[in-house]
Amino acid sequence: MTDDILTKIEDRVLTITFNRTDKKNAITAAMYQKMADAMADANTNDDVRAILFNANGDMFTAGNDLMDFKNNPPLTEDASVSQFLKQLVLAEKPMVAAVNGLAVGVGFTMLLHCDIVYLSETAQLSAPFVDLALVPEAASSLLMPARIGHAKSAEIFMLGKRMTAAEADLHGVASNVFAPDELMPAAEKAAAMLAKRAPAAIKHTKRLMRGDKDELAARMALESKAFGAQLLSPELAEAVMAFTQKREPNFG
Ligand code: COA
Repeated sequence: MTDDILTKIEDRVLTITFNRTDKKNAITAAMYQKMADAMADANTNDDVRAILFNANGDMFTAGNDLMDFKNNPPLTEDASVSQFLKQLVLAEKPMVAAVNGLAVGVGFTMLLHCDIVYLSETAQLSAPFVDLALVPEAASSLLMPARIGHAKSAEIFMLGKRMTAAEADLHGVASNVFAPDELMPAAEKAAAMLAKRAPAAIKHTKRLMRGDKDELAARMALESKAFGAQLLSPELAEAVMAFTQKREPNFG
């Protein structure tokens, strides 16, 4: 069991905390697995009425661990990352995110599945998939354009533009923005409120708002095919090498 993800259930709220601070909370296969297992349990556990994601350290998460991507490319449906993404779609309990700093890659795209998204004023959101020779995941190729429009999504996905907390608020990615020391109290309050509300009404409301699960799953499958092909590509090898060597990639 990894301590890089902390989980606790208290007052009917499952809190999932990124805790790999020395690596900017970059997410390894073991971390995805722990989150997927906790979320699967929460789906059927009557003691859990809401899920709260947060992070220790100075950022939310630097996204997928890039060394893991290169050394153990997650190419199968049962890969830990796929299980985590599936749980985002299957989630029946409302999800709150408290984003304290930079959120990269899946750290951003997972927010599109959360119900209440609170950002610190200092938070920034980034999904630079093409910078890494990758493609969008977590059904974000569908959800992001639906939320913020195609042109803004293309800046984020294709040009690697970061979205500020103020922009996220403006474009409906964030529910609200808080001063850094007000973020966690606000997120905890929202999660506590959700945990006290009529559970069946919350469940139906979430289902209705989420839309078609099959459509999301089908999009994830399409993304996964392209993502898998890119993981094995020379483009990705160059992008990861450039990251480790702290230089710009050269794609020829
Ligand atoms: N995968 C693996 N290791 C990562 C990582 C990632 N995604 N992001 C950061 N780290 C590691 C760094 O290699 C470094 O390790 P080291 O101390 O052993 O050298 C440590 O975390 C600190 O990162 P550093 O880059 O020094 O911090 P920073 O504050 O200057 O920059 C980021 C933070 C997040 C902007 C930068 O690390 C980054 O761009 N990371 C890659 C993000 C990314 O592309 N994620 C994948 C999205 S699909």
